[in-house]
Amino acid sequence: MLKDKFERIHDYLRISITDKCNLRCSYCNPVDLPKGYFSGRTRMTAEEIEKIASIFVSQGINKIRITGGEPLVRKDIRNILERLAKFPVELAMTTNGVFVHEFIDTFKSIGLKSVNVSLDSLNSKSFFKITGRDEFERVKKNIDLLLNHDFYVKINMVVIKGENENEIIDFIRWTKTNPVHIRFIEFMPFAGNSWSSNKIFSYAEIMDLIASKFDFEKLQDNVHDTAKKFTVKDHIGTFAVISSMTQPFCNGCNRLRLTTDGKMKNCLFSKHETDILGALRSGKDILTLIQQCVLKKEEMLGGQFKPSVQNIDASAIKNRSMIDIGG
Ligand code: 5AD
Ligand code: SF4
Repeated sequence: MLKDKFERIHDYLRISITDKCNLRCSYCNPVDLPKGYFSGRTRMTAEEIEKIASIFVSQGINKIRITGGEPLVRKDIRNILERLAKFPVELAMTTNGVFVHEFIDTFKSIGLKSVNVSLDSLNSKSFFKITGRDEFERVKKNIDLLLNHDFYVKINMVVIKGENENEIIDFIRWTKTNPVHIRFIEFMPFAGNSWSSNKIFSYAEIMDLIASKFDFEKLQDNVHDTAKKFTVKDHIGTFAVISSMTQPFCNGCNRLRLTTDGKMKNCLFSKHETDILGALRSGKDILTLIQQCVLKKEEMLGGQFKPSVQNIDASAIKNRSMIDIGG
């Protein structure tokens, strides 16, 4: 069992299988990363992903989420999915949705049930502005395809003040006749993503805005949930807010992360990284390294800042960019 100093049991692993993406969302994939940032880096092979995952699973991991970058751009994605599907875990994936139509059969055959799709706008113009690519129609079609095939579909919408908070109501309207589960995510600071506290559209602001138009009720959250869930009366979908900045949920955290270059992070905001891939390649004992990494986990937000958003100095936070951590 992977228990930390604060008695939190970790049973959920998020594996980033690539640091590449076909979209250019500025909050995640900065255009101005230093030249050569990714060059010369070693990445986990499918076999290494399976080997490392098996050690986590032997320690009680029962859910694995595949992230990136964009996982579906990796050439051997089917091979990776088939290897991970053999473990007694719930498998999930976060994708930008662009290539989903090519993978429906694979998703079904490996028993994937739940797919999170990142979508920050419901109109093609502002989708283009946010992602730098003209793929809105394709993503929207692929979400419908997932719904038609009975996948449980969550939609991640990063709310950035001045960019897309005016679409929150449209996202709620979408839940009326579609079984989509929208998650409004407070904008978080990562390397190179031009974050500032006045770009946060907070949990409180999101709720006030929705309350001005809709009657909604609270749904039951689970202990480890990062999202506070609600539903509007008579809507078949739901909505939730992930208040990472103004009301973090570190108390119930059960998550560990593995980056595509095989470094373990005990928190999204951890400075510290443990080189699992390097250890595997040189024949060292990975299990001890994993346990030590869990014991180093800080109580909250990687120990890097407090949830009083006005006082955060984003430049002092040491971390990778989101594309390089894995969502
Ligand atoms: N702030 C909040 N959420 C983010 N994501 C990526 N970058 C950020 C950020 N800076 C979310 C995206 C994606 C998920 C993997 O992480 O919505 O769906
Ligand atoms: Fe867990 Fe870190 Fe996120 Fe807090 S900030 S919920 S500790 S991953």
